[in-house]
Amino acid sequence: MRETLARICFGTLLAVGLLLTGCSQDHPVARPESESTDLAGDSREPSEEPHAPPRAFEQSPPAPVIFVEYVVTPHDVVARMLELARVGPEDVVYDLGCGDGRILIAAAKNYGCRAVGFDLDRLRVAEARANADREGVADRVTVEQKDVLKADLRAATVVTIYLGTELNRRLIPQLEQLPPGARIVSHNFGIGDFEPDETVRMTSREDHEEHLVYLWTCPLRKTR
Ligand SMILES: C[S@@+](CC[C@H](N)C(=O)[O-])C[C@H]1O[C@@H](n2cnc3c(N)ncnc32)[C@H](O)[C@@H]1O
Repeated sequence: MRETLARICFGTLLAVGLLLTGCSQDHPVARPESESTDLAGDSREPSEEPHAPPRAFEQSPPAPVIFVEYVVTPHDVVARMLELARVGPEDVVYDLGCGDGRILIAAAKNYGCRAVGFDLDRLRVAEARANADREGVADRVTVEQKDVLKADLRAATVVTIYLGTELNRRLIPQLEQLPPGARIVSHNFGIGDFEPDETVRMTSREDHEEHLVYLWTCPLRKTR
């Protein structure tokens, strides 16, 4: 029992640690919260009832959280992403992992559309809301503290992502539910085996680095 408690404490500390990790990386890095779901060692107490199912099958383990670190998309790359997606006033733009809200704000300000952002980090959520307020678009921008893997994307007509290969891949079931004609734009990372309709390579005037912007139009098609 003491061993089980120690494992639970370790798993919890690890998850909190991952969520509080800083922003020193140049590119988003996925950090899976894997320790808490490992049943391989099976430290279950024997079941009191001889015919009761083993506990591992009674309750499903919590879904692992994948958290990528905060790195901003330069403003000129944001502008190119929205241009590539041909955003218009009727669109609803979702930014998954919205950071300081720059993509949402650019969409609402420059195209007059509604924009919805999700971020797991409550500081980013507060920052994005404050920025939308300061830029005069708080009435068209909504920001929710939520794991992107739990977000319902069906109302989106444009989805923007800068999340890394692993999280992009894990998002596929949700992206497959987007309405036909919806556009997905990803900064620097592909989505599984789905071939993009367009790829743009640009050097940002802000950080002088090369950036890739990918566009897909739904439904997603595997062509590789
Ligand atoms: C690389 S930054 C991109 C920020 C913004 N979209 C941009 O392009 O400037 C990734 C953002 O996603 C958030 N994030 C990471 N993992 C997440 C998850 N599983 N669910 C929701 N947000 C997440 C981070 O807090 C961070 O703000």
